[in-house]
Amino acid sequence: MTDVERVCAFLDEAQTYYLATAEGDQPRVRPFGTALVFEGKLYIQTGKVKNVSKQLAANPKAEICAFCNGNWVRIAGELVNDDRREPKAAMLDKMPALKAMYSADDDNTQVLYFKNATATFFSFGGAPESVNI
Ligand SMILES: Cc1cc2nc3c(=O)[nH]c(=O)nc-3n(C[C@H](O)[C@H](O)[C@H](O)COP(=O)(O)O)c2cc1C
Repeated sequence: MTDVERVCAFLDEAQTYYLATAEGDQPRVRPFGTALVFEGKLYIQTGKVKNVSKQLAANPKAEICAFCNGNWVRIAGELVNDDRREPKAAMLDKMPALKAMYSADDDNTQVLYFKNATATFFSFGGAPESVNI
């Protein structure tokens, strides 16, 4: 398993993670659940109409935190928009519940991948372990 696959598997197991963005000097955070490895990169999915999308367009710096089974991960980096159809379709195929609201061909569906990102795994009592993804 590659580092990025390991990070994505952790997010999948946790089911819910929290995505932080910045709006000016105000941090914003919300629950997310979408995660996919595509072409070796970690992708997430949102809707272009959402505030989170607008915040990332203005400032791509983002951080994710997820907790599962006594361990947690933080992923810090930049989220880059990818408007190609292929990663959108792959995301919807992995998470078919999204198809009730999104399609790879609509004007709203957005996928973004982490660039220049570091994922750090933590556990109580253990040393943190960082990987670049
Ligand atoms: C468990 C859970 C998972 C969610 N996953 C996503 C997701 O992957 N992508 C998304 O755009 N919204 C997701 N949402 C909805 C967002 O949290 C919600 O639309 C939020 O308001 C978006 O942030 P914003 O208001 O700052 O734009 C999820 C909500 C919950 C409760």
